[in-house]
Amino acid sequence: MTTIHLPELCLVALIGASGSGKTTLSRQLFAPGEVLSSDAFRLMVANDENAQDATRDAFDSLYFVARKRLARGLLTVIDATNVQADARKRIVSLAKEFDVLPVAIVLDLPEDTLLERHRARTDRPFGAHVIGQQVGHLRRSLRKLQGEGFRQVSVLSTEADVGPARVVRERLY
Ligand code: GTP
Repeated sequence: MTTIHLPELCLVALIGASGSGKTTLSRQLFAPGEVLSSDAFRLMVANDENAQDATRDAFDSLYFVARKRLARGLLTVIDATNVQADARKRIVSLAKEFDVLPVAIVLDLPEDTLLERHRARTDRPFGAHVIGQQVGHLRRSLRKLQGEGFRQVSVLSTEADVGPARVVRERLY
């Protein structure tokens, strides 16, 4: 059983290539209002969760909402691939702005699993090479996450890790 201990108030970055199961896991671990998904914001601003030209507007909106939540002292989860250092830097600096702990939950599943899932999906119109690129970014990032400022890093590497995963929230004094 994978148990992830989280501070009651923190900013959680989900990190994983497309198809790694970020959205599925976020539904398992968190309440719907706690999760800000880049896909959901693309859908809201552009009617299309794959609209890459809406990325900037989607993230501006996502960050606007994240700030409102953190100002209220509410745990917040950012569901985006976050495999690029720049994306993670923005998350760590947002956490600092509100003096909350940035934590990372990483989905580092085998590339074959991701490719198999990608083939089965009709909702991700990009080529399989994109998955390979994202996995490359992720693997190069893994050892750097603590140094980037994430105070806690949980890595789930197999479907057996992810399936029964649960979160325990702990009050920090
Ligand atoms: P993006 O939104 O593309 O970044 O993907 P994601 O990382 O949020 O993955 P998501 O949770 O949307 O799942 C992608 C696909 O994989 C969906 O078709 C899911 O049904 C499937 N999937 C997710 N988690 C699991 C799992 O644990 N086991 C299996 N078999 N399929 C899964």
